[in-house]
Amino acid sequence: MARILLVAGASVAVYKACDLASKLAQAGHEVRCVLTPRAATLVHPQLFEAVTGERAAVDEFGPERRGAMDHIELATWAELLLVAPASAGLLSRLALGLADDLASTVALALPAGRPRLLAPAMNPHMLCSPPIARNLATLRGDGWQVLEPDSGHMACGVDGKGRLREPAELVAAVAAALARR
Ligand SMILES: Cc1cc2nc3c(=O)[nH]c(=O)nc-3n(C[C@H](O)[C@H](O)[C@H](O)COP(=O)(O)O)c2cc1C
Repeated sequence: MARILLVAGASVAVYKACDLASKLAQAGHEVRCVLTPRAATLVHPQLFEAVTGERAAVDEFGPERRGAMDHIELATWAELLLVAPASAGLLSRLALGLADDLASTVALALPAGRPRLLAPAMNPHMLCSPPIARNLATLRGDGWQVLEPDSGHMACGVDGKGRLREPAELVAAVAAALARR
């Protein structure tokens, strides 16, 4: 069992991240969640707190912060980082090293050698667009394990590749990554 940091971006699939957080906790992991500010407009962080029993963080500035430097505290605490869902915007910030919110900053601050997994979720046209393909290749080169999205019917009304992998599969991927450590 491990300390898992789950970072969620502003994808329509963020509702599945609550189930994912719950399943990780039920598997015996300690789970803390960070939502991007836009993800927190789609799903309230309190829901993540309810299923994990831990404070969910969005911003490290202002009254909601946990401590003096939440990005360092959370990154040091985490034994494994899972970004799910990784929106086009969030994964692009990770590929560029843009530390402009707690989610992207904590990912940069994760110590080397700790497993980092990323599960994209987006419209099929976005997924196969040149910038996203480039950014995913960059992330793989940087040591991220990219958990390929599923194909099927998307919430945006089209069929294709881009659905977030099912929470149970993501839990299994986390277990496999921990076993490889
Ligand atoms: C309801 C809704 C659903 C969205 N779903 C997705 C999605 O699945 N994947 C994606 O990359 N962007 C999606 N977007 C667009 C992102 O929310 C937008 O690009 C945002 O700036 C990304 O924020 P983030 O970088 O904090 O994740 C969606 C937007 C809305 C309003």
